[in-house]
Amino acid sequence: MSDVSLETIVSLCKRRGFIYQGSEIYGGLAGTWDYGPLGIQLKRNISNLWWKTFVEDRDDMYGMDAAILMNQKVWQTSGHVSGFNDPLFECDNCKNRFRADHLVEAWVEKHPSEVEKIEHPAYNQSAATLNDYKNLFKMACPNCGKAELSDVRQFNMMFKTHVGAIHDVTSVSYLRPETAQGMFVNFKNVVDSFYPDIPFGMAQIGKAFRNEIAPRDFIFRVRELEQMEIEVFVQPDTWRDQFDTWLELQKQFLLALGLPEERIHQVEIGPDDRAHYSKHSVDTEFDFPFGQKELLGCAYRTDYDLSKHQAASGKNLEYRPKDGGASYIPHVIEPTFGLDRSVLAVISSAYTEDEVNGEKRTYLKLPAHLAPVKVAVSPLLKNKPELVAKAREVYTVLKKEFGAVMWDDNGNIGKRYRRQDEIGTPYCVTIDFDTIEGDTKDTVTVRNRDTTKQERVSIDNLISTLTF
Ligand code: GLY
Repeated sequence: MSDVSLETIVSLCKRRGFIYQGSEIYGGLAGTWDYGPLGIQLKRNISNLWWKTFVEDRDDMYGMDAAILMNQKVWQTSGHVSGFNDPLFECDNCKNRFRADHLVEAWVEKHPSEVEKIEHPAYNQSAATLNDYKNLFKMACPNCGKAELSDVRQFNMMFKTHVGAIHDVTSVSYLRPETAQGMFVNFKNVVDSFYPDIPFGMAQIGKAFRNEIAPRDFIFRVRELEQMEIEVFVQPDTWRDQFDTWLELQKQFLLALGLPEERIHQVEIGPDDRAHYSKHSVDTEFDFPFGQKELLGCAYRTDYDLSKHQAASGKNLEYRPKDGGASYIPHVIEPTFGLDRSVLAVISSAYTEDEVNGEKRTYLKLPAHLAPVKVAVSPLLKNKPELVAKAREVYTVLKKEFGAVMWDDNGNIGKRYRRQDEIGTPYCVTIDFDTIEGDTKDTVTVRNRDTTKQERVSIDNLISTLTF
């Protein structure tokens, strides 16, 4: 578990312009969050690193950006219309609805001695087990306290909509619950355009939507989320090696985000808890402020999706080997990454408190390559035109070089440092009177976020001194 509380992270994110409650001025909309100027920059830095690592730096990966709205047949065929469900209990007394697995899990965590006393089935997410737990332990409704919870009902998590002016069964569509299907339905297009060797992958970053029964934990469980997904098409008998390779690549990516290795855990998912399309799944979990939870997933989807789309569409989705061997439907390894969850993991593991000159200091120890602002430039005093003019010169040069450079002349220099520390800016450059006169003319101070040490650097050497 992380030391920092989620409330502390939520409050910092709002105060400093990272993430706001969605539709806040109208009281919010549960499960939606808006990224502010610093949050979107951090998110982009993470997704750009992902795209560079898995698409640009490889020659076996094909990027995609498929439409969010898709023909309803895609979701009927993929099994999401019938099977993309969460289990819920409804209270027969007060009619509130709860995510059944969350309720049982929380109850078991809170009452370990009760659980030990009674013989009970091993915990999993199947409806039968959840009902057993509810009945055995006479679980009560968290809202009204009555033990009148229904048996599990399945709740489909897709947001349904209609395409066009006519609202009937033929116009039904869904906001996609995963980006993956956009890649499966374009498998043939990519093979026809590029005829890649197998194994090869398709990759996409985009929004997905899930009507969560109980959104919670800030940007962790939300109704509108962003995924970074890869579908790797492999020869069926190589799936295990490919799976292990991609699981390791997922971990390496988390390390590149600066997440501490000891807070990363790979957990195999049992048959009752796997997604309907998966034959083998390993989640990569992370120690978030609210406990160890899923950050990434890796699933062996077999030929489930391509076979079903081939049968339903009537299009041949087989791969024809270049050596003249028999055509076959490739199997799929799917490493999937939650982008919002990655943002939360990065912020919560970067959050640091220390003491400087007897005063408590809060800062985000973000890896410099992810920091939303790379350098802040300040004139020591904003009412001295000669300092401001010189600072503007330095700012312009750095802005041109690094892009994400902030002009900061608000409040006194101590306040500026504290503000920049809280948003994780690796360097603050200050232009003072020694910059414009005397032996130190044309030098500035560079303050390091982590050490708080300042050094004088000549303006000519500034760009090479600032390393990211
Ligand atoms: N495509 C896997 C997932 O959305 O979880």
